[in-house]
Amino acid sequence: MDDKKILFSAVQPSGTLTLGNYIGAIKNWTKLQDDYNCIYSIADLHTLTVKQEPALLRAHTYELTALYLACGIDPEKAILFIQSHVPAHAELTWILNTMTYPGELTRMTQFKDKSQRHCDNVNMGLMDYPVLMASDILLYNTELVPVGADQKQHLELSRDLAIRFNSRYSETFKVPEPYISKVGAKIMSLQEPTKKMSKSDANINAFISMDDDTDTIIRKFKRAVTDSDNKIVMSEDKPGISNLLSIYSVVTGTSIEDAEKRFDGYGYGDFKLAVGEAVADVIKPIKEEKERILKDKAYIDKILADGADRASRIAYKTLSKVYRKVGLVPRAR
Ligand code: TRP
Repeated sequence: MDDKKILFSAVQPSGTLTLGNYIGAIKNWTKLQDDYNCIYSIADLHTLTVKQEPALLRAHTYELTALYLACGIDPEKAILFIQSHVPAHAELTWILNTMTYPGELTRMTQFKDKSQRHCDNVNMGLMDYPVLMASDILLYNTELVPVGADQKQHLELSRDLAIRFNSRYSETFKVPEPYISKVGAKIMSLQEPTKKMSKSDANINAFISMDDDTDTIIRKFKRAVTDSDNKIVMSEDKPGISNLLSIYSVVTGTSIEDAEKRFDGYGYGDFKLAVGEAVADVIKPIKEEKERILKDKAYIDKILADGADRASRIAYKTLSKVYRKVGLVPRAR
């Protein structure tokens, strides 16, 4: 490899992605491909920590791969692979488990939230989720991890585990840093704009799915919650309008100031329509490309097999170092 920094990120194949996931994650990832050695994973093992329908999980995994490709992840530039195709992730998790304390995992905000939401299935995997995530990151000598606010705590544990291992056994892991994107637009719910846009929202009008068609997108924007004065400006006391302005700004590449100027004097109805159209213009070609790619399973399988080969080479180098340092006897050849 060259001297570019290694950047690692992953998304779970747990159903449709929202406009928020696209803007907050995948869209940025395509821009990072030239400046970093990017490794992007489909975190299927993480998905199993909540109940999954096996056939659906398989379908979601293919869909997410196709979506990554449709959004412009280029397998010539980045490594794209399925987490379970590289068993080193599960293997390193075991080693790191022996140096993680239960209290470190039970106090995780996401564990507490998910234990409540899935109270009929609070399993060891759900608790261990951050250790698997640490393994994902540490196997690749990752320097940078683009993560949203909800994953910051997990990244912090990855750093702690890297430091702990290094001080116990000598320098082995790079200590990863969060990568904070310059265009840090956080996309909020269209119905409750103080909450993050989420695909698990019970109200389907609250989020835009990357699978929505143009009519649906425009209808959802028309119903977006705003406020009662009629000014289209970015302001803390106008969360609905601010959210729509930042969505418009990222999907069209216009600055917030220019967007405010452009919509000066518009009524809310026309403004919402314009934002809906701008979003539909971005989603439609991606959705079409994703559907085209999905029809070619052999092509997807080939990219994933190649990605798993390249990822394995890096991951097993790290894992064998780890096994040796902790005192496991290497298998004779
Ligand atoms: N937990 C992350 C999420 O749900 C996905 C993920 C898994 C991840 N492994 C990772 C993100 C490693 C960054 C690095 O968003």
